[in-house]
Amino acid sequence: MENLYQISDYTVHCLQQYNPIALVATTVLVTYVCTSLRHMYLDDMGIRKRISTWFFTTVKRVPFIRKMIDKQLNEVKSELEKSLAIPDHSTEYFKTIPTRSVGREEVLRLAAIYDGLEGPAYLEGRVSGAVFNREDDEEERHMYEEIFGRFAWSNPLWPKLFPGVRIMEAEVVRMCCNMMNGDEKTCGTMSTGGSISILLACLAHRNRLLKRGQMYTEMVVPSSVHAAFFKAAETFKIKVRKIPVDPVTFKVDISKMKAAINSRTCMLVGSAPNFPFGTVDDIDAIGQLGLEYDIPVHVDACLGGFLLPFLEEDNIRYDFRVPGVSSISADSHKYGLAPKGSSVVLYRNKELLHNQYFCDADWQGGIYASATMEGSRAGHNIALCWAAMLYHAQDGYKKNSKKIVDTTRKIRDGLSKIKGIKLQGPSDICIVSWTTTDGVELYRFHNYMKERHWQLNGLQFPAGVHIMVTMNHTHSGLAESFIADCKAAVEFVTQTTPSESDKTSEAAIYGLAQSIPDRSLVHEFAHSYLDAVYKLPE
Ligand SMILES: *Cc1c(COP(=O)(O)O)cnc(C)c1O
Ligand SMILES: *[C@@H]1O[C@H](CO)[C@@H](O)[C@H](O)[C@H]1NC(C)=O
Repeated sequence: MENLYQISDYTVHCLQQYNPIALVATTVLVTYVCTSLRHMYLDDMGIRKRISTWFFTTVKRVPFIRKMIDKQLNEVKSELEKSLAIPDHSTEYFKTIPTRSVGREEVLRLAAIYDGLEGPAYLEGRVSGAVFNREDDEEERHMYEEIFGRFAWSNPLWPKLFPGVRIMEAEVVRMCCNMMNGDEKTCGTMSTGGSISILLACLAHRNRLLKRGQMYTEMVVPSSVHAAFFKAAETFKIKVRKIPVDPVTFKVDISKMKAAINSRTCMLVGSAPNFPFGTVDDIDAIGQLGLEYDIPVHVDACLGGFLLPFLEEDNIRYDFRVPGVSSISADSHKYGLAPKGSSVVLYRNKELLHNQYFCDADWQGGIYASATMEGSRAGHNIALCWAAMLYHAQDGYKKNSKKIVDTTRKIRDGLSKIKGIKLQGPSDICIVSWTTTDGVELYRFHNYMKERHWQLNGLQFPAGVHIMVTMNHTHSGLAESFIADCKAAVEFVTQTTPSESDKTSEAAIYGLAQSIPDRSLVHEFAHSYLDAVYKLPE
């Protein structure tokens, strides 16, 4: 006590030397700076990114630097536009709505022309992912045409008007809950695609923490998760803690994941499997962390959703049987083989699901409530998904998953024997992922494959490529010709020197983009690509 008084007296004595106004001003200023820094730190962008953004923005204001960048950007732009070029055809492009109906016949004639514009890679079935169905199943396609005809005008926003579609959605959700080994408490909704299912789950888990009074939320995700999580983070202002994958197993590093958890963590994520490498994270361990810290765990089974449940070897753990798993996204429009436009997001119980619901009790248009992001929805998407699930059924999905897994492993085994190719992860489900070694330049390998009409997905950090195996690849001979082309590509790259067109190719740009420290420049490239997508040819 004595001591405290002494310290206090001494402090007062010291402070008396200063002007009280200066003291108050300094206190206010320091408090202001500290609070701002704290906000910036907690903010989803983070201090480091803010500073680097500020730095690069300032540098780019210097006229001659801007000029240099613009010159490069224009080159990239024209290269990207070239890659989207469309073969000449005789019709004119519509820029205004026709004043009078062109008539049914003409609409169909024009549509046939547009339908005919598909590229050779697609036509030969040499595309990674994208179309998952067997396109030679005419019966299936005609069934979808009929279903579309029946449900074209339906809108599940009005469940009383369209009770059939309401039941279909409830059935799809229930079938998926069972597929994921949920119980009677398991619930969920449909959405229009995997990214939207992921956005919904992130929204729900963020809202759960917001309601508990945590203003700043974070999510802990493997570096290999789908971009949709970063989209969700940006949209809902959630800070991302990105955890690297183990360089040998290509699964998320659990101890690093654990270290990143704090009181602001609203969710943990694992993929089953992930997009870049096709590996399934250790969902058991992530679930354990979730239970330990009372944090919801989301499993992204957008890819594996309609594959893993149907595999004979049942040793992968990823669904509601794993304690701690709170929500799962699964894409019916991928290996579920429904036409594009449907996916499901499932929750362990209603309490979690309710955080996804929206309700405005005070809207002038009436009390408004919706379960998902959309307002009006296409009932036919639900009906088509429902039809696909009844048509393919468990035995169809079983047969298909076996074919997908067998083809994946056949390709993996073939590639593992090629010197100059290094597999990334076990590549044993539906994705074969690799990078090149021994001086084989990846972008030239990629170019060669492209010339052979193989359309692979480019990966970065580390640079690599992958092929996502679809039903079209399971036909006899396709895996063999793919392996042979990979082998030829490695030989070609080893034995020749790069050409001019090699150096300016899309793959080269892609490789280059990785090494640009100012990521906002890459954003500028990407924006010009997206602009090009919406540009009508002259
Ligand atoms: C495809 C995919 C998604 C996103 O699905 P979209 O339907 O393209 O929105 C999410 N996660 C993984 C692992 C995927 O492969
Ligand atoms: C692969 O795709 C092409 C292009 O659509 C198609 O012609 C072919 O029938 C497909 N093969 C299978 C097995 O689906």
